Amino acid sequence: MNDSKQPGLIDSSASNPEEKVFPVPAPLESHGPARVISMCNQKGGVGKTTTTINLGAALAEYGRRVLIVDFDPQGAASAGLGINAHELDSTIYDQLVANKPDVGTIIHGTTVHGLDIVPANIDLSAAEVQLVNEVAREQALKRVLRPVMDVYDVILVDCQPSLGLLTINALTASHGVIIPLETEFFALRGVALLVETVERVTDRLNGSLEIDGILATMVDTRTLHSREVLERLEQAFGDKLFDTRIRRTVKFPDASVASEPITSYAPTHPGAEAYRRLAREIIARGDVA
Ligand SMILES: Nc1ncnc2c1ncn2[C@@H]1O[C@H](COP(=O)(O)OP(=O)(O)OP(=O)(O)O)[C@@H](O)[C@H]1O
Ligand SMILES: [Mg+2]
Repeated sequence: MNDSKQPGLIDSSASNPEEKVFPVPAPLESHGPARVISMCNQKGGVGKTTTTINLGAALAEYGRRVLIVDFDPQGAASAGLGINAHELDSTIYDQLVANKPDVGTIIHGTTVHGLDIVPANIDLSAAEVQLVNEVAREQALKRVLRPVMDVYDVILVDCQPSLGLLTINALTASHGVIIPLETEFFALRGVALLVETVERVTDRLNGSLEIDGILATMVDTRTLHSREVLERLEQAFGDKLFDTRIRRTVKFPDASVASEPITSYAPTHPGAEAYRRLAREIIARGDVA
């Protein structure tokens, strides 16, 4: 960590000259109960997995105990943290369909202190079909996570790009939703449907669910286009748009090839600092302890 320097001021992720400073959070004296946050957008390739991994790693650097739940059969979050999930016999899938789930048996540590992961692989694609005929089919993930709620401060669920039953399970198990949006012209397309889905889950399944924030990703502040899209996002979402923006940089794909969060792959890179700033912003807003 390089937060002995002035936090926030060393960040170059945003273009705002009057940039807000989010303080380095005080360490926690005890852990839990966890706030569960789903990373959701049915659009593919918007930065859900990148945000899950790097926000998780940044929160862990600040002493939070973090569990990432890979909830995408592609297993990108698992791979991005160095887990060869296609070789595993037991993953989140087995827990979802088990009569007596015991999630502790499939939690893996990572190279980041304080950051654990529940892996997924292609088996998870069968869960959607299998759960359809189950009692309380929307509550399967919530039930799986219950025993570890007091162990972690934050549980981040990396959703697949769909609004199917797995994503409904993630939303039903969550307190908050973060919606990453690629900063490009069609970013808002589909967001209304996503917000409607969150509202439906709030009405029918999980009254405590709220949208924590919209995260602008892959921002290219050099282009007028990117700045225009950011303005539109500000108009559309107001305070719900995180002040922290994530710039486009090849260091993110580089870090995933290295199976590491950017915070350890390139700790001083502005991309790493941007996710640390997002972690501080989320804690400053009170979304996470
Ligand atoms: N800020 C960024 N700058 C440049 N590339 C990025 C950035 N964020 C993510 N990427 C890259 O874009 C690709 C898609 O990102 P990511 O996998 O995080 O999106 P996703 O929303 O999880 O996708 P999917 O919907 O397929 O699960 C990856 O190759 C990732 O490395
Ligand atoms: Mg993903």
